[in-house]
Amino acid sequence: MSRAMTQRFSFSLAATDGRARTGTISTPRGDIRTPAFMPVGTAATVKAMMPESVAATGADILLGNTYHLMLRPTAERIDRLGGLHKFMNWDKPILTDSGGFQVMSLADLRKLTEKGVTFRSHIDGSKHELTPERSMEIQRLLGSDIVMAFDECPALPADRDRITESMRLSMRWAERSRDAFGDRPGHALFGIQQGGLEQDLRAESAEALTKIGFEGYAIGGLAVGEGQEAMFACLDYAPDQLPVDKPRYLMGVGKPDDIVGAVKRGVDMMDCVLPSRSGRTGQAWTHRGQVNIKNARHADDPRPLDETCSCPACSNYSRAYLHHVFRSGEMISGMLLTWHNLHYYQVIMQGMRDAIASGTFAAWESDFHAKRGEGDI
Ligand code: GUN
Ligand code: ZN
Repeated sequence: MSRAMTQRFSFSLAATDGRARTGTISTPRGDIRTPAFMPVGTAATVKAMMPESVAATGADILLGNTYHLMLRPTAERIDRLGGLHKFMNWDKPILTDSGGFQVMSLADLRKLTEKGVTFRSHIDGSKHELTPERSMEIQRLLGSDIVMAFDECPALPADRDRITESMRLSMRWAERSRDAFGDRPGHALFGIQQGGLEQDLRAESAEALTKIGFEGYAIGGLAVGEGQEAMFACLDYAPDQLPVDKPRYLMGVGKPDDIVGAVKRGVDMMDCVLPSRSGRTGQAWTHRGQVNIKNARHADDPRPLDETCSCPACSNYSRAYLHHVFRSGEMISGMLLTWHNLHYYQVIMQGMRDAIASGTFAAWESDFHAKRGEGDI
């Protein structure tokens, strides 16, 4: 572990093209090429994928969840077993979300106070508490490389007063998160900007976070039902409110065109369950758009899902086969479609990194959109 002691967490920008940026986040567990897409491994697994397969798609980093892992198998058990990387056999970087957001969407009988949130587990009804201090402790026990500050995100629609109060609470929690995290060389703590769709509240939040000081800054509270147009309108200013020399992470986004629009507006990192979750429900994303493999029109089709894709699903199987195994409820269906979707997402990320580096992002983006408009796929 000499690398862990010498290598600190750092971010360097290699090129910009308009507001789009490409660079590298360096960590003791390896480099993260940005813009980066992080597959979601909520319960210490990217569902339907072996970790080496996730790495083969081109992912440099995974996302894990405090909320799920604290309930089962518990952070203490993962710590006793050598930490999350060893437990799930993934030795590259892991970012963990801090739990508050998942409590609000998944847990029962939630009670929010200045101190934190108490709730009942959605698994067995047991009672738990999360505070900034406890979230930092859990993420330390997991061995997370990028730790997220503990925050709160109001369910939308919410009125401006509620969004203001919630954002200010999250900023007080961000300061407590920073204090509890302490000094951990090689590990990073990211703050999370809130403030809904209100530009002045986002500015206030960015200023509060920057004053505390973090190794990276997330944009939270988006992709919660506001729609792409409203999200992009917010991303027209939100990334620029955050420090230029630190990674910017848009949480929980999104579809391929959301990701392209976010990168165009200066976002460096994203995560979403979409490519993995929808792989298990028969939805695939290809360079020509979305395909539903359930559809009867694929039953006799000998062509691959995406003729330009080099993933195992497209290299070795026909649409007819993928249709058949989906209809038959075979496990390989979710495995192949998840692999394809994660591979396609990483192809997009690599395409954007290359285009930004060569100053051709606008041309890359119009090609991306043009191919998706070519009709029946
Ligand atoms: N995931 C998606 N949005 C959010 C957010 O606002 N906060 C946190 N902690 N996680 C998220
Ligand atoms: Zn493929």
